[in-house]
Parts: sequence; structure tokens; C-alpha cells
Amino acid sequence: MFSLFNFKMEYVCSFCNIFVYSEESGETRAGLKKGTKFEEVPDGWICPVCGKPKNYWKMISSEEFKEKKKQYDKLYPLKDNTAEEITDYMYKARAMLPGTCSVNKVCDGHPDRLCMGLKYGRPIGFGGAGQGRTFTNNFKALEKWKLKMKVIKKHKEPEFETEFLRHKIKMPFLVSSMSGVKISMNDSIPEAEFQRGMIEGAKLFGTIGLSGNTVDFPEHPGIEIIKENKGWGIPVFKPQSPEKLLQLFKRAEEADVIAIGVDLDGFGSTNWELRGKPVYRKSEEELKELVQSTKKPVILKGIMTVEDALKAVDSGAAAIDISNHGGRVMDSGLGVADVLPDIAKAVKQRNPKVIIMADGAVRSGFDILKLLALGADFVLAGRPLGRMALAGGAKAVAKHLEFFMNGLRMAMIMTGCDNLKEINPDILIKYE
Ligand SMILES: Cc1cc2nc3c(=O)[nH]c(=O)nc-3n(C[C@H](O)[C@H](O)[C@H](O)COP(=O)(O)O)c2cc1C
Repeated sequence: MFSLFNFKMEYVCSFCNIFVYSEESGETRAGLKKGTKFEEVPDGWICPVCGKPKNYWKMISSEEFKEKKKQYDKLYPLKDNTAEEITDYMYKARAMLPGTCSVNKVCDGHPDRLCMGLKYGRPIGFGGAGQGRTFTNNFKALEKWKLKMKVIKKHKEPEFETEFLRHKIKMPFLVSSMSGVKISMNDSIPEAEFQRGMIEGAKLFGTIGLSGNTVDFPEHPGIEIIKENKGWGIPVFKPQSPEKLLQLFKRAEEADVIAIGVDLDGFGSTNWELRGKPVYRKSEEELKELVQSTKKPVILKGIMTVEDALKAVDSGAAAIDISNHGGRVMDSGLGVADVLPDIAKAVKQRNPKVIIMADGAVRSGFDILKLLALGADFVLAGRPLGRMALAGGAKAVAKHLEFFMNGLRMAMIMTGCDNLKEINPDILIKYE
């Protein structure tokens, strides 16, 4: 029983009845430092076991605490420095992102998630712009498409190794550009370390990493890391002024990068807006000039309509990324899987050589297969890999990519696809 003489202030989460907390010792697994009092636990904090907020905590006696702690430690062992499984890294990421991201197993932009909802002018962390409808719509758009299970066919190991701009990669999947540890990820590690995790994790696994451009480092630290990796990576620049972009393009060329990207939708980045940094919409003439200014292939990221896609193709871009920045730049937009088929058809008619990339709420190999079947040549993901880079660097990113690959293999086997050419819309059915 709890007694008035229990000054230690020990709690259990009354929802899961597993998570226990002692103010005296804190709880590193839940991101709470030694001595953190109940009232100092941030409002956005959620239980690492069941996701409920701190008002579910109930005070318990020392005896009860000791007993329950044994069970908690057994179920959720402390292995801060030895984490090797994706779930361990997720656990670590959760501890690094209190108040920002609850590292849910279903990362879908649901309105109840810690990252979602209006931020009233504050940074959006891992969430979406405004009420987050576009982030949610990316997930819902993928949900509308179901895979047809086809199992009667001679068994064959599916082949999915491919080339991106003549560079061999293990599967048609790349690591999407992310940035902004300081403003979006609780300043939990240095920006360059994060970028290294994304770029080198992709390389370690056998694919290519894109590297984002944060307002805190407009000069893009990723370029140097790509250079150290003999050009194995793709810097993606925010749509800064033409002069600034030309300078950045030059540095990227010197690093002999695989391609150069511009996230055209980065114009809507709330983080750049908050810091008053200059980002601009780009005209067709400006895009043509940019593409012509370099011998490197140019990727235009953030295309969501057929009109924009055709303008991007006519500018001479080598690839376009059908993306809405994970729903982070405009509220109430369509999901990527909603717009992809029409855009892919129009682009391939205009110029079949242009590569189509797509990203938005891709969380497994099954999602990768869906976007490939809807017309993407290559698929990308952001949030799940960003969390890995924070928690375990390149090793963790590579581990997660392996998970994606195993899922893609299984998805191809189950839908009767022996190779990438056999992936087509006939393996899908729209069922809402
Ligand atoms: C925290 C965060 C930071 C991001 N930073 C960038 C960036 O600097 N440049 C960029 O092109 N895209 C950026 N993105 C968008 C991703 O490249 C990608 O389009 C998006 O994350 C895909 O959606 P997903 O996270 O649901 O997979 C960022 C996304 C997140 C979640």
C-alpha cells in the first residue's frame, strides 16, 4: 500500500500497468533524467510502453515499485549501447525525441499522434503542416490500394537489383533527404552526424542516400560527407536564390555527386519560414537555367500535379520525385499514391527517359511494391530512416533498409512478381 511516508514518489502507468517511474532515479528509456519530478515531465511526454500521457501515472508504494520494476526491466531491457535490432533503435529514438515523436509502430500521421495537430507557429518536429491532413492522406492513399495475392506459379526468387543513373543498387529504393536535427529532432545529435548516418547507412546497405538542406546549415554539410564517400550520395538543396543555388551546384559538382536535387516544395518549409530564411518558388525559365548550369543529372523533388510534372520534364530534369515532403509543407493536399498514376503516365508519354521517384508514408516492402506498381521507378522513405540515423547512425539505417528489402522480396513473391518488369497495376485493386 502507498503510505504518507513514501517520499520517493514512485509511479506506475495505470493504463499498461508495466511502465514504472521513480523521480529519484529518472528513466533513460523514457527520456527522463535523474531527479525529474512529475510536474517537470513535459506535457507531450508519452509512456514508452503504451503511449498514454503522464496523467495516467498512479503513485505506488516502494514495495510495489520494486516488484513492477523487475517485470518492466525484463520486458524492456536496458541496452543503450548494445542495441542492434530495429525495435531497440526505435526505443532509443523514442528516448531522444520526447515531446516530438512517439516513434509509433504505425507512423501514419493519425491526429492522435504526439507529432500531429496545429503547432501555433512552433516548429513541426516530425509532424505535418497545419492539421497534418496531407501527412495522413499519404498513409490513407496507400491504404486504398490492396495487393492481389497470387501464389500459383513456378517458384522463383524475385530479382530486384537495379541501377539508378547507371549506379548499381540492391533494390529500387533510396533514402530520402531529411535535415534539421536542431529544430525538428530535439537537437539530439549534431546535424553532420545525422547526415552521415543517412548517407553512409544507404551506402553500407547498397543503395543511395539523399541529403537534406536545413535552415541551420544553409551551406549543406552533407556535400562534404558525400565527397568523403567518393561522391556516393545526392545533395538536395532548398530552393534558395538562383545565385546561391549555382554556388551549391558548383560545390556538389566538385564533390562528384551522383545527382543534384532541389526540393521545390521546400519553399513551404515552416522551419525556413520561422527563421526568415530566403526560399523561393521557381519559374520554368529558372529551372531550365539550373539544369543547364550543370553536367550532373538534376532531380526535381516535390511534384504533385501533372502540370508541374510536365514543366519539370521540359526543364530537362533527369528525374522527378512525386512527393509532398511527407505532408510537411502544405495542409489538405492529396496523398502521393492518389496522384502518382496520372503523373507517371503523363511523364512517360512526354519523355520515357525521365526517372519517376515517389515518397510519402512508405513503411514496409509492401508499400514499396504498391508505389512501384502505381508507376514509380524508385521509391523513398523519410521518417523511419531518420529515426534510425538518430538512434544508431549508419548501422541502424542499413538494418532498416534490410527490413524494407525483406518485405519487398516477400511482397513480390506473394503477388507473383519474379522481377521488376513484372510489377504492374494488375497486382493492385482499389478498395476503399
Ligand atoms: C523531419 C523531416 C525533415 C525533412 N527534411 C527534408 C529536407 O531537408 N529536404 C527534403 O528534400 N525533404 C525533407 N523531408 C521530406 C523527406 O525527404 C520525404 O519527402 C518525406 O519524409 C517522406 O515522407 P515519410 O517521412 O512519411 O516517408 C523531411 C522530412 C522530415 C520528416
